[in-house]
Amino acid sequence: MSLDDRLTEELAEIAAAGLTRRRRVLASPCGRIAIVDGRELLNFASNDYLGLAGNAEIAAALADGARQWGAGSGASHLVSGHLEPHDALETDIAAFTGFARTLTFSTGYLANLAVTPTLAGRGAAVFADKLNHASLIDAMQLAKANGAEVQRYPHHDLATLERQLAASSATTKLIVSDTVFSMDGDLAPLPQLLQLAERFDAWLVLDDAHGFGVLGAQGRGSLAHFNLPAARRILLMGTLGKAAGVGGAFVAGSATAIEYLLQKGRSYIFTTAAPPAIACALRRSLQIIAGGDALRAALFANIARLRDGMGGLPWRLLPSATAIQPLIVGDNAAAVALSTALWERGLWAPAIRPPTVPAGTARLRLSLSGAHTTADIDQLLAALRELA
Ligand SMILES: Cc1ncc(COP(=O)(O)O)c(C=O)c1O
Repeated sequence: MSLDDRLTEELAEIAAAGLTRRRRVLASPCGRIAIVDGRELLNFASNDYLGLAGNAEIAAALADGARQWGAGSGASHLVSGHLEPHDALETDIAAFTGFARTLTFSTGYLANLAVTPTLAGRGAAVFADKLNHASLIDAMQLAKANGAEVQRYPHHDLATLERQLAASSATTKLIVSDTVFSMDGDLAPLPQLLQLAERFDAWLVLDDAHGFGVLGAQGRGSLAHFNLPAARRILLMGTLGKAAGVGGAFVAGSATAIEYLLQKGRSYIFTTAAPPAIACALRRSLQIIAGGDALRAALFANIARLRDGMGGLPWRLLPSATAIQPLIVGDNAAAVALSTALWERGLWAPAIRPPTVPAGTARLRLSLSGAHTTADIDQLLAALRELA
């Protein structure tokens, strides 16, 4: 069978299982309204939790940055692509998160790939929550290929994690977790994870993609939410394309850990630095996040309004206090049908199916934003009531 025939066969199998993924082309910028195929839809599908993707001041900082610094960085950070805006952004993020030092990356995926496999090779052990994001799972597989032993513990199961840590004789131990789980919206028990890390002398590698900008005082993230310090044994990854509204990511940690990643992190070293204008936009975004209590208050009011309004509906929302509000449907086809029916009513609420989530838990991933109005939330609830 030729390669092309094999791929055609596999694509047909994906289609037969109802799992073909489809991209929608937006004819509008990211915002609370999306225009698709000439239709206006209320957008509950983006991770733009504070509505900053369309913020005019950030867009102006991007344009000014491009005028001053050009379109591209021209090289990787370690060659000649590390420009003043990149450096200044690292300093800003360090000050904002309270960590000694940070590195920035073009995407969160690349940032995650830099941390776990670089810190954990032969003689090391990685302990990961089963529901971690795909990029953390891929990072874990790379660590395994580098000789690390990897173990996954059931979601939130601290007793199993403790047993695994106690039984491990690895010289380097890494506990790796999402802070806000991307498909469930729930928070990892960070205080307990930090205690275990201290007790077993492990690093704690945290992915705050969905907490940064949203949770904690001034949106400083999940550690701030729990009043936890920027401890030396923590490496914090935060993405900058979600609440921050632009793109990219950072890793924050101790000066030594960050210097080590700079020297050895392959996905930091062997890739072109993001355009410097992106860093200019992100510096402005950070200021807006820090002063963005009103945006966060609007987001949390929307979350409460949605959850309060679900009473009497046949679907349940998972217990999430974050912008990610998963409405569990169960059956794959039923989740798609509900998403389609909402779409027909002008509401974009994507269905998420296996393998992204466990079998039997297909869901609508409702993603709320501080840019949504109360009328937007009411419109969603009214449509759900009609379809119940
Ligand atoms: C938990 C989590 N980590 C990492 C990423 C990857 O970040 P990026 O989109 O910047 O590559 C995402 C989403 O994309 C995510 O949800």
